Amino acid sequence: MPSFPVPRTYRVKSFGCQMNVYDGERMAELLDAQGLSPASGEDADVVVLNTCHIREKASEKVYSEIGRLRREDGSAPLIAVAGCVAQAEGEEVMARAPLVRMVVGPQAYHRLPAMLERARGGERVLDTDMPAQTKFAALPERRRAGPTAFLTVQEGCDKFCTYCVVPYTRGAELSRPFAQLVAEAERLVGAGAREITLLGQNVNAWRGEDEKGREVGLEGVIAALARLPDLARIRYTTSHPRDMREPLIAAHGEIDKLMPFLHLPVQSGSDRVLKAMNRGHRAEDYMKLLDRVRAARPDIALSGDFIVGFPGESEAEFAETLALIDAAGYAQAFSFKYSARPGTPAATMPGKIAPEIMDERLQRLQARIGQGQLAFNRHSVGRRCAILIERRGKLPGQWLGKSPWLQSVHVIGDARIGDLVPVELTGAFANSLSGTAIAASPAPAPA
Ligand code: SAH
Ligand code: SF4
Ligand code: F3S
Repeated sequence: MPSFPVPRTYRVKSFGCQMNVYDGERMAELLDAQGLSPASGEDADVVVLNTCHIREKASEKVYSEIGRLRREDGSAPLIAVAGCVAQAEGEEVMARAPLVRMVVGPQAYHRLPAMLERARGGERVLDTDMPAQTKFAALPERRRAGPTAFLTVQEGCDKFCTYCVVPYTRGAELSRPFAQLVAEAERLVGAGAREITLLGQNVNAWRGEDEKGREVGLEGVIAALARLPDLARIRYTTSHPRDMREPLIAAHGEIDKLMPFLHLPVQSGSDRVLKAMNRGHRAEDYMKLLDRVRAARPDIALSGDFIVGFPGESEAEFAETLALIDAAGYAQAFSFKYSARPGTPAATMPGKIAPEIMDERLQRLQARIGQGQLAFNRHSVGRRCAILIERRGKLPGQWLGKSPWLQSVHVIGDARIGDLVPVELTGAFANSLSGTAIAASPAPAPA
């Protein structure tokens, strides 16, 4: 049995969604607490690959990543495979990749330090226990935060869309307790966060009791965070149309710190396809929902996810998706070719779509989304708003920040990372805008 020297450095590499990024940060904090330091170069004593299983390409990536970790002398760091591939096919990973010493699922990573100890002695350790209840309480307190921070409030999914692995890799829906979330947010703000994005696979399914013992939805968490004086902005993602209830919609009109942005995936514009996907809503329900959201917050920037080439999708059904895109008006959206995932109901549905048709549909769909995005950006020109500075731009004196509508904005001037700089938006491109710094406007602009 190989044994390993006491590890001193680590590297965590996260793939997939923002919740994985959050988990990656928490694993890094766990390793910090063990006295390890983040490796600045490529080589580290411990490498955690925090994987994503959502589509075949994402899932297969783990094997090439593992191969790349073998050193010239044939040795390798202590490799842990974490995340959704670990959960879905941990045993297969162990069998296929002998370099892997640890496999840890998304709800078990609080036990990483103990696993590491065993792996160091030469054991190969697998822990894919569910569910998540114990994880959060067992993690060390937050210590680090950039100007924008993630905070997972809800885990798992009970929706079982027929194409999707998430209910199997992340487990059942679970809401973290209110007080735990407020405490974590306070720590993040204390460490420098100006913006917090609340995360969950179905974030708007969050339910709990607020500080007064009242049953609340996500709007209750948002309201509590809005009371933190040094927190300027609140966002949340991803929402399911079925969980978009009135109090959360109303919050968009009532809470200034809640940013005018909503990621609300619809996947398809065809009712037949939506039914086969088990989405639990029709295209018309989605459009009506958008009307209610826009009544509360007319300038809201809408984002979505789309799948092209779901089994049996006809040209006419695809055209319904294009029509929905035009009618809904997206400020941005993500789109994917359907990928059959082992164990999901859609994987065995008839009507497989040929790859070249998928490619062609994806191109048409992305062109349509691109047009909408440019139109939204152009429409923003002339608006005054604050941008939250995230990093330096490429040009001297240039800074890059985000508008309330989550657009990337370039501005030239005096600024620091984490500043909220008032700007007038002056130019629009496909993926960004330019802005001119202005004196803080007396007229109320969204933060
Ligand atoms: N919980 C979120 C996001 C889930 S994963 C939601 O329900 O909206 C992010 C996106 O990946 C999904 O919205 C969907 O568009 C896409 N996706 C999920 N499974 C897929 C699959 N098998 N093939 C292609 N795209 C998929
Ligand atoms: Fe997957 Fe559907 Fe759950 Fe989203 S709602 S995570 S797409 S099963
Ligand atoms: Fe991927 Fe798991 Fe997120 S499958 S998208 S990392 S929940």
